[in-house]
Amino acid sequence: MSSAQSKRPLQSAKCGALVGDVRVPGDKSISHRSLMFGGLAEGETRITGLLEGEDVLATADAMRKLGAKVTRDEDGTWHVRGVGVGALREPDSVIDMGNAGTGIRLLAGIVATHPITTFFTGDASLCKRPMGRVADPLAQFGAKFVTRDQGRPPMAVIGTDEALPITYTLPMASAQVKSAVLLAGLNTAGTTTVIEPKPSRDHTERMLRHFGVEVDVQVNDDGGRTISLTGPCTMTAADIVVPTDPSSAAFPLVAALINPESKVTIRDVCLNPLRTGLITTLIEMGGDITITNEREEAGETIGDLVVTGKNRLKGITVPAERAPSMIDEYPVLAVAAAYAEGETRMCDLAELRVKESDRLAAVAAGLAANGVIHRIEGDDLIVTGGVVPGGGLVETHLDHRIAMSFLVLGIGAEKPVKVDDAAPIATSFPVFEEMMAGLGTSFAPSNR
Ligand code: S3P
Repeated sequence: MSSAQSKRPLQSAKCGALVGDVRVPGDKSISHRSLMFGGLAEGETRITGLLEGEDVLATADAMRKLGAKVTRDEDGTWHVRGVGVGALREPDSVIDMGNAGTGIRLLAGIVATHPITTFFTGDASLCKRPMGRVADPLAQFGAKFVTRDQGRPPMAVIGTDEALPITYTLPMASAQVKSAVLLAGLNTAGTTTVIEPKPSRDHTERMLRHFGVEVDVQVNDDGGRTISLTGPCTMTAADIVVPTDPSSAAFPLVAALINPESKVTIRDVCLNPLRTGLITTLIEMGGDITITNEREEAGETIGDLVVTGKNRLKGITVPAERAPSMIDEYPVLAVAAAYAEGETRMCDLAELRVKESDRLAAVAAGLAANGVIHRIEGDDLIVTGGVVPGGGLVETHLDHRIAMSFLVLGIGAEKPVKVDDAAPIATSFPVFEEMMAGLGTSFAPSNR
């Protein structure tokens, strides 16, 4: 795991056209879920295309500690022999989730309705993040939580074997909270219901069905969704092909758009409609993006993105409703906005404050360090594009997406952009530097 001792400064300098054909690693959200659901199912689940980043490897270890048998073949195929819903074993040591917010929150849901006590910890970033958003609804099932001040990990979950089903309206758009509640419902007699006022990524719903769980999804008059399942559920092992991660594809995508002579193809990108807000936004900004070869694979829409830098991007207003479908992409959108003509307003980014870092503050600080005009009004971020002076040092705060976004900023800046620590990139995109170098970027170790 990344730590202060192993900080790895990196800089990114202006480069020529980016050209190439790439395939980014597997989707992080789907990878976490495939290991967890495989571990809960009866039988053996085979997973191909799994993201082998630090976050997902932490989930693999956690599932082993909870009793599942998790192995990897030399060719990268993973096998999970599940224990069955209700049969997880009490871990005999603390589970270290590293940097993984999705990992800790979804697992909290799973163990909350098993009669075991589980201790979780994580890195300095995870230990600052709020767990109250899952602990509150999970306590209504009957589980008990012990956390540090303000609901921060380390966290103990004392699960219940007499869980009561709940109906829960999400106070924020969060697929993690929705998933934690639904997963607690798997081992709860009766119907568990989650009402989400704004739809968030639905990988949990889709994958639970793939494992044989009946999940009812109703679209509400206000556009929100009501999702329910009735437990106790039996899950049956099912093979998973993990599509590639649109949140990782975002980096070569924006890099190509802001670099005029570029032409890049990004293959097999997961185009789940609840994940494509960035593509919609960049097309609205005038970006030349063509989706080809669109098809369905393993319950998800995937396609290839052909991107060129021929159109100069234009500033737009990105509506608040779109936020859940591109929540992880705002840092790199802010980078695109720094090169766009005019002002880009990104509305209602409150949730960015509780990610791997306070991303609103980290993005603003990174833009300021590199001479990009911007302001924060309430929860909106407004960026004025133009020539990017660069020359600044960006603090990444153990946040992979801050590191990758500002390395992308550097590819068109007048002076190199430095990030203080590229090590966290390994949490979600271990081959980022290699892949970007293959396209023609100029990244180099930096002495800060
Ligand atoms: C995720 C949900 C999102 C996202 C995170 C992955 C998931 O978090 O930011 O990277 O896999 O469910 P929130 O639920 O906090 O919005």
